[in-house]
Amino acid sequence: MTASKLAAGNWKMNGRMVHLEEAMAIAAVNPGPQTEVLICPPATLIAPMAQALTGTHVRVGGQDCHARPKGAHTGDIAAAMLVDAGASHVILGHSERRADHGETSADVAAKIRAAWDQGLTAILCVGETEAQRDAGETLHIVGAQLAQSLPDGATADNTVIAYEPVWAIGTGRTPTTTQIAEVHAHLHQAAPQGVRLLYGGSVNPTNAVQIFAIPDVNGALVGGASLKAADFTQIIAALADA
Ligand code: PGA
Repeated sequence: MTASKLAAGNWKMNGRMVHLEEAMAIAAVNPGPQTEVLICPPATLIAPMAQALTGTHVRVGGQDCHARPKGAHTGDIAAAMLVDAGASHVILGHSERRADHGETSADVAAKIRAAWDQGLTAILCVGETEAQRDAGETLHIVGAQLAQSLPDGATADNTVIAYEPVWAIGTGRTPTTTQIAEVHAHLHQAAPQGVRLLYGGSVNPTNAVQIFAIPDVNGALVGGASLKAADFTQIIAALADA
């Protein structure tokens, strides 16, 4: 049975062996069965982190996978390798992957299929740029990304959707609660029933309570504030209390 809420940390290109201690400190605080906790470290830390967290409530995920099961793809990671290393989830279609690596929604859809084939839960990211929001295109953009990135077959167990406005990521700026509510209501309509909807983009211990009170927000995808256990555990506690 899938927990109704999810706090997911995206460590991006941060973290070395010494930072497994932060993961252990995150695992020291158990928010209860309704709140799932996930850390997505860089690929080099997936196996040691999964091992270190064995027997705790905290699960480990990847930040990307290749669409193909194996082969001549230097530097890439197959979904089966993530599973082998101990991952249960994988973030796909993050705006940094779309921007830095030219990933299209069609590429993301192929990766999600590859992840599902291996039993991974895909965390699909969608979100508008600032220019798109200023042009009044937000709902159109996130709706199109969802339609084009999410293959048929999505369920509450195999998929999570993260709304991450590109302009809010790592900037300390967040949309208003009304703006988040508008996008989440739209995604709630468009997504398969029961799929959890995360908000991501500059979530921190100070704004978490307000964000988790918004209808249709079932958790968060947290970047910078997930690197420190002191911050991430406060966010997790706010989610558990919401
Ligand atoms: P941030 O990143 O919390 O540092 O803004 C969120 C994300 O990109 O997932």
